[in-house]
Amino acid sequence: MHAINMTLKKTALLVLAGALAFSCDRHRNMPGWDFMPDMIYSQAFETYTENPVFADSMTQRIPVYGTIPQDMAAFRYDVLPENRLLAGQTLLSPEQMAMKHVFEGKKLFTTFCANCHGESGKGDGYLVTSGKLPVKVGDLTEERLVTAARGDMFHVITVGSGLMGSYGAILSERDRWKIVEYVKVKIQGQELGARTLGGANPALSEPYEEFEARIAREFARTSGLGPVTSLQLGALNQSMVTEGAELFRAKCSSCHKPTKKYVGPAPVGILERRDPAWIMNMILNPEEMVSSDPVGKELLKRYLAPMANQNLTEDEARKIVEYFRTLEK
Ligand code: HEC
Ligand code: HEC
Repeated sequence: MHAINMTLKKTALLVLAGALAFSCDRHRNMPGWDFMPDMIYSQAFETYTENPVFADSMTQRIPVYGTIPQDMAAFRYDVLPENRLLAGQTLLSPEQMAMKHVFEGKKLFTTFCANCHGESGKGDGYLVTSGKLPVKVGDLTEERLVTAARGDMFHVITVGSGLMGSYGAILSERDRWKIVEYVKVKIQGQELGARTLGGANPALSEPYEEFEARIAREFARTSGLGPVTSLQLGALNQSMVTEGAELFRAKCSSCHKPTKKYVGPAPVGILERRDPAWIMNMILNPEEMVSSDPVGKELLKRYLAPMANQNLTEDEARKIVEYFRTLEK
């Protein structure tokens, strides 16, 4: 009995010594031996590697239609102005916001928003001051945005607004609400954690035809405010139409669709409702047009987001007007 026990002990010691000898090495840079590589190295295909199992040889699969990642609730309001209004009227953060959320929101704002909007929110972020982003970004301290409900900003962050991209797929719902709270409290100086919904917007409940009829009744048709005082349209110039269509696609289609309302109105039929010089000024000088021109002001009330200045030359704007002449319902 005793002898067998000794033999077992000796064998065990030998095996242990052997294992130690194999698994260690004098060189620190040598990882030594792997006894069970299957447990150390993943046998699964890496995300971006070629995959013989699937016909398209891609490892990363498109999620099953209709599925959504955890913590990413589906968002039912698209980018149209009436849906932005609805978001402001119906959405509240699921949890009561406290100062700790504001601090977390600050970090997120610094990471995701400040490069354009600036730490102050006034639109002087690095991408703007360096000239890398040749557009004007929203000033978050503007009265119109200060008085807007939290759900309104949640909508802008989630689906974007014109030239601003959407963050719905990048930031979780909770993180988007934290950013909203930070902007409301620290940038706009509002009360912490207020759970208020936006009111109705009478401008949006007026049907479009009635809206335009009222504008035609209430305001004289003018050339608007800006560099163009008058514009006579001659015979249609086809090459200008082609160039105008291309410019429109490149510079305007993030907010305008030719014949359907989108972020801004559809330009179809615009020459029947506005003076050609007014259209030029709206393209060349939109900031002043939506803040001081009576028709521009009405439009901003209805479409909520301001028309963006795309820094076109007068010549380019003129080509777009030529293209507008050819649009049909
Ligand atoms: C790449 C630059 C960029 C980044 C990053 C960015 N924005 Fe914007 N933002 C813009 C631009 C451009 C506009 C003007 C939008 C337009 O023309 O309709 C804007 C407009 C806005 C508006 C106002 C919309 C209106 O009605 O005038 C809000 C609110 C806003 N951004 C919030 C945010 C928040 C919050 C973040 C971070 C999650 C963010 N933005 C990140 C470029 C940016
Ligand atoms: C960031 C979004 C955005 C971009 C980009 C944009 N627009 Fe607009 N546009 C609007 C909005 C919104 C309105 C309605 C007025 C308002 O809310 O400020 C508008 C109004 C207009 C109007 C007046 C329409 C009417 O019915 O009276 C014209 C004309 C126009 N835009 C032309 C253009 C052209 C041309 C371009 C490209 C060079 C362009 N817009 C780019 C958002 C945009």
